[in-house]
Amino acid sequence: MCGIVGYIGDKDINSVLMAGLWRLEYRGYDSSGVASVMDGDIDVRKVKGRLMNLQKILSDKPLSGTIGIGHTRWATHGEPSDQNAHPQVGCKNQVAVVHNGIIENYYSLKEELLKRKHFFKSDTDTEVIAHLIEENYEDDLKESVLKSISKLKGSYAIAVICNAEPDKIVVYKYGSPLIVGIGKNENIIASDITALLDHTKDIITMNDGELGVIQKNKVEFFNNENKKVTKEKKKIKWSAESLGKGDFPHYMLKEIHEQPNVIKKNIKLKIKGNEFNLGKNFNFSPKELANLSHIIIQACGTSWHAGYVGKYLFEDFARIRTEIDISSEFRYRNPIRDGAPLVMAITQSGETADTLAGLREAKAKFLKILSLVNVQGSTIARESDSTIYLDAGPEIGVASTKAFTSQLFQLYLLSLYLAKLKWTLNDSEISKKIKEIKALPKKMKKILEKEKEIKKIAKKFKNAKDFMFIGRGINYPSALEGALKLKEISYIHATGYPAGEMKHGPIALISEGSPVVAIATKSSVYEKMLSNIEELKSRKAKVIVIGTEGDNIIKKLGNDVFYIPECTENLSPILVSIPLQLFAYHIAVLNDRDVDRPRNLAKSVTVE
Ligand code: AGP
Repeated sequence: MCGIVGYIGDKDINSVLMAGLWRLEYRGYDSSGVASVMDGDIDVRKVKGRLMNLQKILSDKPLSGTIGIGHTRWATHGEPSDQNAHPQVGCKNQVAVVHNGIIENYYSLKEELLKRKHFFKSDTDTEVIAHLIEENYEDDLKESVLKSISKLKGSYAIAVICNAEPDKIVVYKYGSPLIVGIGKNENIIASDITALLDHTKDIITMNDGELGVIQKNKVEFFNNENKKVTKEKKKIKWSAESLGKGDFPHYMLKEIHEQPNVIKKNIKLKIKGNEFNLGKNFNFSPKELANLSHIIIQACGTSWHAGYVGKYLFEDFARIRTEIDISSEFRYRNPIRDGAPLVMAITQSGETADTLAGLREAKAKFLKILSLVNVQGSTIARESDSTIYLDAGPEIGVASTKAFTSQLFQLYLLSLYLAKLKWTLNDSEISKKIKEIKALPKKMKKILEKEKEIKKIAKKFKNAKDFMFIGRGINYPSALEGALKLKEISYIHATGYPAGEMKHGPIALISEGSPVVAIATKSSVYEKMLSNIEELKSRKAKVIVIGTEGDNIIKKLGNDVFYIPECTENLSPILVSIPLQLFAYHIAVLNDRDVDRPRNLAKSVTVE
């Protein structure tokens, strides 16, 4: 949440900061701002609302200078307003600070600063950092930052500039992400790599408790004791081109359409004949994995839904007992420590604060951690014992789509690999399943070619106020995901439910015309689903059915039917998710919603 960027070099500071902020806008869009140092003064432009507002201000009154910092905000402390926008400055306008995270003890720090006659212009927690640094400043920005951060509690990534030291940006990371891009005669910092890619592919990822002094031709790192830290540069694989929208009106639609290729690429990377290659960061030994007593999956939102599907896969294929928990719950419960469990963290961004906290909690109990992550080098990937990358390319739309289907794919592969190690599936069963996986991209394309059909159904239901999504077995989590997709981008209320549970309460919500999306593909629970749909129909619900091609029964039963190609039950969530994503997308577009930047949300949720 919140994106920060900073640049020092010869390029035009306005365009570099703005381009970086556009890339980071998905992290928050309540306000934005930039600052530079010019002729011994800190110069700030900031404004409430979308980035477009800042762009307008900068075209009328650009910044000058060769150093600058920028921020795009997801409001935590203080409403979205011009004053609460970052950068924040101290009383004397000596330093400007941008911040991603939360200062938990800001209230007591503010009280102390007020007693010492500091005056505040905003309601943000960030402003206390600017005042502290200014108060501690003698003639060394690095030292005043180190001194000030020792007072802070919470999570934060900050970038600071100072009017008296126009040749450096000082950055510090604790809990929120911060990456340094190394260029030629220029250096850049940002909350994530997407903002660096236009300038360089050489990056240094900062760790918690590290401070960086970023100059035009030099970057240096220090620990809390002001001792130098040596850090390695890494090359990133993503290209700047992959960050565009192409011919699509929204990132979300582009990313939905990328899914067959993401799966195709993953098949090529990770399946070798009858063997699996889960990547060089997956370094658990076969023996370790074969001896697992159980798996505990913890994740948030869409990633939690993927984990829920994973539970069915691990239990069915590998016969490994699997618990699934929402990270913010997992963290505060007291799980029983027995056997040799594996804790899995599933996350697109690799920075979700709740998932990271869950991971650290598990690590503190000496449990082994495997993460499934999309963003290379992200905090969760770095702090895990092993990582399987999603290899889905950058996902910009706030609603997760291609990362979700890739998570399902990785979970499927991992469950087959575990089944192989534990001999719960034999070689010929595995090769049959690999054949089925290889047929997926074509089937996914086939679904996407029928997008118009989904759009037509979306048109019929665009004014509905309440939706119910139902499924059973491995497609119960698909129902949860379908409902989440719809509510987060259309702001229409939707609930996902296990179909068999409807009669225990929720069916009371059903009346004439209530829209219900029912996942009734061919499976071991197909007949049960048919009965559940009948129960809804007899109460005059309008049922939109996702079914399997060639099934004529559901044609008679559903008010609207969308067919997906035939596939096995355990692979079906990958195919089922596509019409659900398209349904949510089209309803949101028809309701004129900002699909890629839904209100109150941010792509990377770095606060707990
Ligand atoms: C997905 O559409 C959501 N925006 C959200 O639920 C997301 O999946 C969740 O915040 C977890 O993010 P992560 O995968 O980056 O950890």
